[in-house]
Amino acid sequence: MSDLASKVRSTLRDVPDFPKEGIVFKDITPVLSDGMLFREIIEAWRERYAAQNISAIVGIESRGFIFGAALAHALGVGLTLVRKPGKLPYKRIGVDYTLEYGTDRVEMHTDALAPGDRVVVVDDLLATGGTCGATIALVQELGAVVVECAFLVELGFLEGSKRLHGVPYHALTVF
Ligand code: PRP
Ligand code: HPA
Repeated sequence: MSDLASKVRSTLRDVPDFPKEGIVFKDITPVLSDGMLFREIIEAWRERYAAQNISAIVGIESRGFIFGAALAHALGVGLTLVRKPGKLPYKRIGVDYTLEYGTDRVEMHTDALAPGDRVVVVDDLLATGGTCGATIALVQELGAVVVECAFLVELGFLEGSKRLHGVPYHALTVF
């Protein structure tokens, strides 16, 4: 395991029974509080994607916005927001999906991406894959290409990668 992966792993905090009994929630806030670690994560991702001709980062609400915005800034490309329903003001497309603890929907502005755009989808965590799978569908509906999906954490036992439509993905650490 890389130094960075073990640092992320040891900095994450397990919170039992959140948001529902029986779920052990991986809390990423201690990672954000560690400025050097946060910078190292974004720098590792910047290096990973710098030569990939990426035209936009797609950040998933809400923790994906934090890492996605930092990566977009580091790469000097735009940030596209994928949001929960009713949050985006302009013309939208949406996809419904099932979550580890409920059901939800994600939406994107119709002019957020253009055919030929090459994007990285960023989120903090891959659980059942519903959210990211729906996000990939939105991106592809607009004719853009998902080069890779990037996560801090993958909960491998939930097999969320099976819902990523065969798109490549990268997780800094897997549980
Ligand atoms: C979490 C997480 C991912 C998603 C992963 O977000 O940040 O976006 O769930 O779950 P999945 O792989 O089973 O779809 P959440 O819905 O809790 O929203 P938040 O970031 O706004 O708290
Ligand atoms: N941590 C953070 N976000 C999540 C989790 C988790 O364990 N499960 C689903 N979304």
